[in-house]
Amino acid sequence: MEKMLINGPTKLNGSVRVSRAKNAYLPILAGVLLCEGPVTLKNVPELRDINTMKKLLGNLGVKITGDNSSMTFDSSKIEHVEATYDLVKTMRASICVLGPLLTRFHEAKVSLPGGCAIGSRPIDIHLSNLELLGAEIILEGGYVHAKTKGLKGTSLVLEFPSVGATENILMAAVLAKGNTKIENCALEPEVTDLANFLNAMGAKISGIGTKTLLIEGVEKLTGGEYEAIGDRIEAATYIIAGLMTESEIEVTGFIPEHLEFVINKLKMAGAKFEISENAVKTFPSKLEGIDVDTAPYPGFPTDVQAQFIALATYINGSSVITENIFENRFMHVPELTRMGADITLKGNAAIVKGGKELIGAPVMCTDLRASAALILAALVAQGETEVQRVYHLDRGYEKLAAKFKELGANIKRMD
Ligand code: UD1
Repeated sequence: MEKMLINGPTKLNGSVRVSRAKNAYLPILAGVLLCEGPVTLKNVPELRDINTMKKLLGNLGVKITGDNSSMTFDSSKIEHVEATYDLVKTMRASICVLGPLLTRFHEAKVSLPGGCAIGSRPIDIHLSNLELLGAEIILEGGYVHAKTKGLKGTSLVLEFPSVGATENILMAAVLAKGNTKIENCALEPEVTDLANFLNAMGAKISGIGTKTLLIEGVEKLTGGEYEAIGDRIEAATYIIAGLMTESEIEVTGFIPEHLEFVINKLKMAGAKFEISENAVKTFPSKLEGIDVDTAPYPGFPTDVQAQFIALATYINGSSVITENIFENRFMHVPELTRMGADITLKGNAAIVKGGKELIGAPVMCTDLRASAALILAALVAQGETEVQRVYHLDRGYEKLAAKFKELGANIKRMD
């Protein structure tokens, strides 16, 4: 099994360009199923989750050509409408193929994703709203089996602004007959990116970027070319690396406005930045304790919670970091504690006493963002940290070791 060896403490310097966002490209790849003509996607990151989605699309009959810099998808001859358990269980975003398959082919069978490392993650909001659009849904043998005689537009209000549910329902509504209004939508930039992609392919969506999406159903989506936004979560990870190592680094290739809440929190804690249209530069800064509560966008992202805990262990003062989105998203805490961090868990809050010297140790990745937190801690820890099970990182961080090495970190990947 592959692992990473990191020798700290490290100073970083130079510039790092983030990849296009995984969380934007995964639903866009599901959206390819809506299109009758070829879709070309630019700069698709080379990640395990992307490969899983490509495999799923390939199994359904989508022809995929080209390489990651320009990849073309032809969904004109779909042969199956079933997403099997072996693929869905490894990646929950697979549930996003349900809406597109159902609306275009009037039937879809998708394995129920089940629980995952960070919590139970139900899909009731996806299913109840697809029913309101005219789907008949049966749960059998661990699968969601959905059928329709044709979806019909209606008014929907989501109980919670779920990212996945907004994306699934939006894609279903695009080919539904008549108009659909979806209220209390997720505002995440990746949802906006999906809506922009769908419009570029011929959909008629308005209200993009607001809590209410209005969709005028169209007969078909054609095809076209699209490039997703930069990965704001990857960017946040490198920005935090710059601050933790008290270094001057530039993080480019994303829209800093997408991280406004995170950047403001860091500024309040004492971080110094230079911010331009597509980049954030960090400067050596003295940070003091930070309190954050994860929340739907534009609030503090749950996907940056683990990295903030790593930061909080290193800076001076106490921090309280509260997780409100997922019930079991603190698996990085025992691993950080093994490196010398002082963290107490109380319900859904982590109380971190900062300013502790971290010491390198063998640690284990448990999920994607938890793994990023361990890499950050290893950069400032004394001596060698051996990070095991790095396949979790490969799900969502493109060329992480190479990018950190380029910034000057002493990091290597080995079998
Ligand atoms: C969530 C994050 C997203 C992040 C992704 C990967 C939020 C709001 N969403 O998206 O930013 O990129 O994880 O880590 O922070 N829920 C239900 N029923 C449903 C759907 C969701 O109860 O049908 C609940 C979930 O259990 C969870 C919350 O809603 O507590 C957020 O879920 P959702 O936004 O759907 O999660 P993801 O789409 O995975």
